[in-house]
Amino acid sequence: MKILVTGAAGLVGSHLARRLAGEHEVVALTHDQLDITDRAAVGRYVLREKPALIFNCAVLQVDDSEQQPTKAQAVNVDGPSFLAEAANQVGAEIVHFSTQYAFAGEPLHRPPFTFEDEPRPVNNYGRTKVAGEAAVRAACARSYIIRTSWVYGSGKNSFLCTVHDDLNAGRKVRAIDDIWSSTTYVDDLIDRVMAIHATGRHGIYHVVNQGVCTYHEFALEAGRLLGLTRVQTDALIEITHERDMKRVAPRPRYTPLRCLLSEQLGLPAMRDWRAALAAFVKDRPSSV
Ligand SMILES: NC(=O)c1ccc[n+]([C@@H]2O[C@H](COP(=O)([O-])OP(=O)(O)OC[C@H]3O[C@@H](n4cnc5c(N)ncnc54)[C@H](OP(=O)(O)O)[C@@H]3O)[C@@H](O)[C@H]2O)c1
Repeated sequence: MKILVTGAAGLVGSHLARRLAGEHEVVALTHDQLDITDRAAVGRYVLREKPALIFNCAVLQVDDSEQQPTKAQAVNVDGPSFLAEAANQVGAEIVHFSTQYAFAGEPLHRPPFTFEDEPRPVNNYGRTKVAGEAAVRAACARSYIIRTSWVYGSGKNSFLCTVHDDLNAGRKVRAIDDIWSSTTYVDDLIDRVMAIHATGRHGIYHVVNQGVCTYHEFALEAGRLLGLTRVQTDALIEITHERDMKRVAPRPRYTPLRCLLSEQLGLPAMRDWRAALAAFVKDRPSSV
């Protein structure tokens, strides 16, 4: 199958492009190679390559989306719609990634959000991502919207991606303990997305590892998996609170996800977040 990946230098895009290249013909386009907000360029690329499947992994991140609303509209809404429009023209399918930030995250400890829950984003990233989902679906019926949450894997400088290495090297980390969500190991995300694609059932999916945690709980588990004692791990972790972070964009507080469509399709439950983190810690070449 010929597959086109946009945003191919990012966390999800780079892992997808690498993993799929073994089995498929992959055209991996970084931001430099294709700006998805350029409608004519998107049309030209898709018409020339005629992929069977497009993965849109390009995104403007959370705080940038708050500070630059025009750019957020372009990258998170208009670009995805141009890609979906072009996919539709060549008869391709499109996988578009979205986020748990579609939801307001209240009240705490409520049941996990499903696609039946009404999106109610609390920041401009969430608002544009929800609008992007709708734009993709309107332009291409053959679309899979994959909402995921707190994705981690090698190659990105983010808390979830690096906390294991930091603790292993004895470096102190700051971990937030008052927001909760599902976490997602990028390898598990890709496996599940390909399993979903194989079913041919278009729709909105929630793809995350089972369970819910805070960054602090994630760090504690990473320490345990590294063989550190609780006392050693506690000494390396400074607990912080989201409410004290004074970030540009507010974050929803409680956003675990559950995938009703995967359940309806009979796909097995994804492994628990602790098992996924164990696989990451084991697989990952340590940078120490
Ligand atoms: N990572 C998570 O925790 C998480 C959680 C929930 C949902 N998601 C979703 O998963 C998807 C992928 O996220 P990610 O974590 O892989 O993001 P990422 O690591 O920030 O990568 C995004 C990529 O998009 C590129 N990009 C930005 N603007 C672009 C444009 N106009 N045209 C083409 N490329 C552009 C960026 O390039 P530059 O850096 O050069 O601009 C970057 O390489 C997104 O839809 C996101 O909403 C991610």
